[in-house]
Amino acid sequence: MKKAVYPGSFDPITTGHLEIIKRTARLFDEVIVLVMKNVNKHGMFDYQRRVEMIETACRGLENVTVDLHTGLLTSYMKEYDVSTIIKGLRSSIDFEYEKEMALVNEKLSPGIETVFLISNPEYEMISSSIVRELISYGADLSGFVPSSIQKILREEGLGDE
Ligand code: PNS
Repeated sequence: MKKAVYPGSFDPITTGHLEIIKRTARLFDEVIVLVMKNVNKHGMFDYQRRVEMIETACRGLENVTVDLHTGLLTSYMKEYDVSTIIKGLRSSIDFEYEKEMALVNEKLSPGIETVFLISNPEYEMISSSIVRELISYGADLSGFVPSSIQKILREEGLGDE
């Protein structure tokens, strides 16, 4: 059984994240999308909301589950017996940051592998921080977040003029 964890802050999930999740689901038997704390970022949505939004966006992806963990990634992986981390790479800036993370995680828990998927260029400029900025200006989120999430946010008066 090939298992992988796709960790992130997902504040909120974007179309770029969903693309990586779908591709990972084709490569592995089981994918855990893991909502985690990033100490360097201030949150817009609380953790439970982020989980719910990912669950909504991933409906129909049978081998994908969503979980929440506010401790170290390596401690979660040990507990749930997962040894592969998936990360999406949009640019060389992502690469420099993710390389460091991969080395730290390997040092904390030798044997852990980080597998990088190159983002589709269509999603290169999309990030949760851009989405949060668009939300704060009431801008249209089409193409930035999955349509199911855009609908939910719109119902809450977020993300549309
Ligand atoms: O989507 P992000 O914000 O780039 O994701 C970063 C995240 C949440 C995956 C990273 O900050 C993380 O792994 N946080 C959990 C704590 C941890 O294990 N840190 C790595 C070793 S210091």
